Amino acid sequence: MTRPKKTAATPAANLMWGGRFEQGPAEAMERINASIDFDKRLYAQDIAASQAHCKMLAAQGIVSEADSAAILGGLDSILREIEAGDFPFRVEFEDIHMNVEARLGELIGAAAGRLHTARSRNDQVVTDVRLWVRDAIDGLDGQLRDLQAALIVQAEAQAGTVMPGFTHLQAAQPVTLGHHLLAYVEMLGRDRGRLTDARKRLNECPLGSAALAGTSFPIDRDMTAKALGFDRPSANSMDSVSDRDFAMEFLSAGAVIAIHLSRLAEELVLWCAAGFSYVRLSDAFSTGSSIMPQKRNPDAAELVRGKAGRVIGALNTMLVMMKGLPMAFCKDMQEDKEPLFDAAETLSICLGASTGMIRDMTPDADAMRAATAAGFLTATDLADWLVRVLGLAFRDAHHATGAIVRRAEALGCGLADLPLAEMQAVEARITEDIFEVLSVEASVRSRTSLGGTAPDRVRAAAAAARERFL
Ligand code: ARG
Repeated sequence: MTRPKKTAATPAANLMWGGRFEQGPAEAMERINASIDFDKRLYAQDIAASQAHCKMLAAQGIVSEADSAAILGGLDSILREIEAGDFPFRVEFEDIHMNVEARLGELIGAAAGRLHTARSRNDQVVTDVRLWVRDAIDGLDGQLRDLQAALIVQAEAQAGTVMPGFTHLQAAQPVTLGHHLLAYVEMLGRDRGRLTDARKRLNECPLGSAALAGTSFPIDRDMTAKALGFDRPSANSMDSVSDRDFAMEFLSAGAVIAIHLSRLAEELVLWCAAGFSYVRLSDAFSTGSSIMPQKRNPDAAELVRGKAGRVIGALNTMLVMMKGLPMAFCKDMQEDKEPLFDAAETLSICLGASTGMIRDMTPDADAMRAATAAGFLTATDLADWLVRVLGLAFRDAHHATGAIVRRAEALGCGLADLPLAEMQAVEARITEDIFEVLSVEASVRSRTSLGGTAPDRVRAAAAAARERFL
């Protein structure tokens, strides 16, 4: 048996815990361990949390006012350095927390070493991530609202535009485009509700939980929680440093959003396709082909549809990563960040593109109206007439209507163009009045039930949606 070759180790022991070590980490260790390349995105949250912690330490007499002032000033300088692009991110300091602390030492000297009193990276990182997710939720909520606004504006303009409504992607009954678009406004409203719920639960401050057991220093956790805009400090130190359910909840809500957006995107792809041509996307949201000069491709819609996979993947990554982890912190949890960042970014990109597509699109009312001619869309209206006027049971009316549709199909015409005699051959008591319900306009106008597709209903629903969501 050959023994594994010793791998090269960096010469210096770690700045933060070097006392216990003779040698630094192997290069391969550094590669798997370091998170700075991605967790640098937490810099603003990390500095804000450190400042809140430092002020609390001073207020409690745990560090001197002089040291606290030096630390706060140093952290301000670091924030400026990072925002100016001048900060020396170093992989040997592993993550954002130790990069900031190491730099603080370079800037202000020995006082920097007092900042980490009564805290651990375990409560530090989860505080940062909660703050980051909270901001991401607020940003996405605003973007969801923008998309709702764009949909509502189009719905108001298209409240009376008749189009085929589908089930099984088979033409079913006439609906209005406004009604169809408002369906997405409802979905997005629930999406916002899910994010708001997740935000409520995540808004507890873990800071002061320290490594896992709390601390012997006389800290004031209410003070830090308040300073960072949390509703309260978290109740159990072990829970606080070791759960990531808030991230799972955010990604679950995000996955549902991605699915809603992908459904809307799929409809846009269909509506732009030959055979539909219900809408035209603007030039700004279409692409051409490098070989086929005639093409206008809905790439943005296709990408929104496709990117749903990334967000669902992020949720899956988080769930599997957390499964079976014993309390408290485990380094596995460092893997929470990339899926969070990628999902939030992806959702933001998809929402921006969806809003632009909807805002700029030009519906083709004539094409949609023409499409309602096929498929016997008013068959249900005919059956309902037989029930309402002739008193048939709905099942019998359904049967008679089916026979009438068959005659129309054989003659190659729509129901509104079928001679009365053809209908009377199936049900003798049918009169001329039947034609009042066989046009698609009459059909949608009659759908006045709460939540229905009648143009007046749609206009009222759009007004209500403005009140509820915008
Ligand atoms: N970079 C780590 C993370 O993202 C910070 C926490 C590390 N804690 C520890 N005990 N090693 O989770």
